[in-house]
Amino acid sequence: DAIRPLIAGNWKMNGLRASAAEFEAMLAGAAKVAAKADLLVCPPATLIAAFADKARGSKNLKVGAQDCHQKASGANTGDISAEMLADAGASAIIVGHSERRADHGESDFLVRAKAEAAWRAGLTAIVCIGETQHQRDAGQTLDICRGQLNLSLPPAATSGNLVVAYEPVWAIGTGLTPTVGDVEQVHRFIREFLIAKFNGEGARMRLLYGGSVKPSNAAELMAVANVNGALIGGASLKAADFLAIAGSY
Ligand code: G3H
Repeated sequence: DAIRPLIAGNWKMNGLRASAAEFEAMLAGAAKVAAKADLLVCPPATLIAAFADKARGSKNLKVGAQDCHQKASGANTGDISAEMLADAGASAIIVGHSERRADHGESDFLVRAKAEAAWRAGLTAIVCIGETQHQRDAGQTLDICRGQLNLSLPPAATSGNLVVAYEPVWAIGTGLTPTVGDVEQVHRFIREFLIAKFNGEGARMRLLYGGSVKPSNAAELMAVANVNGALIGGASLKAADFLAIAGSY
């Protein structure tokens, strides 16, 4: 069977309660594209409960989170657990985004613990990997991806509980994207890794591309072998762009 694509929007640190109108427009348009892809919107934590309430009952569009703490509860000022995100109505959590790895010093081991925390709360983990410009220039792209996959993916991963997102750090928010050939090469490499480690489950796991995906390049990128959807930053803030990308399938 073909892998059902996932089009995920990561709003990052953008969005106020007034953004509910944009989310409602996404919800209204989701039914049209839902025949071909699942949709997920990951707003800042402050908006998850309100958006999830609006999306309740929608089979087409779900709400996710951008990060979680690895523990379920405790003396961790300012942190939010996967259990709390599940309680707010999230169905998935992005973990190991390069902005978390770079800005908050998150290690592969912590990312793995956060993926397991998502599962503990019954949620899907979307684990991000990807090389920096410096690493690409040094010819280390596949080595970096292998290392991150090895250490960030928990051994109990299945096609139901794990999504992998390949995001070349240099392509995030820059308008730059790898060539179709480069995306194809890295995604094939990741697929082979997943099959070697998780067998049939690895063959069915969703593998997203992220980094400057927009309506004008989505069809080309989504058509690449082993690209099973997108993780979209900037272009996921506007319903028209987000739905246009989802409609490129
Ligand atoms: O999580 C999303 C990515 O970091 C991509 O962001 O689409 O703004 O380049 P971008």
